[in-house]
Amino acid sequence: MNTTLLEKLNWRYATKVFDPSKKVSDADFEILLESLRLTPSSFGIQPWKFVVVKNLEIREQLVSHSWGQRQVADASHLIVLCRLNQMTEKTVDEYMEYTAETRGVDVSELKGFSDMLKGFVNKMDAEQLSQWMENQVYIALGNLMTSASVLDIDACPIEGFSSTEYDRVLGLEEFGLNSVVLCPVGYRGENDKYAENPKVRFLSEEVILEIS
Ligand SMILES: Cc1cc2nc3c(=O)[nH]c(=O)nc-3n(C[C@H](O)[C@H](O)[C@H](O)COP(=O)(O)O)c2cc1C
Repeated sequence: MNTTLLEKLNWRYATKVFDPSKKVSDADFEILLESLRLTPSSFGIQPWKFVVVKNLEIREQLVSHSWGQRQVADASHLIVLCRLNQMTEKTVDEYMEYTAETRGVDVSELKGFSDMLKGFVNKMDAEQLSQWMENQVYIALGNLMTSASVLDIDACPIEGFSSTEYDRVLGLEEFGLNSVVLCPVGYRGENDKYAENPKVRFLSEEVILEIS
């Protein structure tokens, strides 16, 4: 068993207080962004974008749209994980063209895959499609949090925010996006009492079921 990984996973926690004076280095932040980019998704469709909010005034403004949670302003970096606000056959076609180019094949060779994916997308209503895209975004969140812990960087996944207000303040509709979940990253403040809280996790006998 890789104890280093487990040590990191036990070390990490949803950070409530960030030290605003501590910044993640550019090199480490690039790695975190790569961990988002490399996230796997259903059919590989990658129905997302990851928005880095750099403007500190905007980040202060976002606190009131985040249930007053200061992490969005105090952490070193704020990442807003977004899904596409729609998916059409054009999205699939563009993805097929990119796949063909990347793998050096003719796009016609991907017709079977393309038709199957379009069939999958077309059979969902708008709500199901949004949910499906959001599911993919949460995989990216998991990847980001684990990657941050491996780099000794703190993070706090945040669902406690108004997606509507974030979309409005950040102008996300113009980019064809909707915000799904937030993840400020940085370094824990010394006074964060949550850091020492024992982890509340069900025992493995309770959550791992073996069927032989
Ligand atoms: C999708 C998701 C949304 C969350 N939203 C918030 C949030 O808005 N604010 C917060 O302080 N913690 C939030 N959390 C943190 C959880 O409460 C925390 O991960 C959980 O209690 C387990 O504790 P640990 O992460 O410290 O081990 C969220 C976690 C996840 C995975």
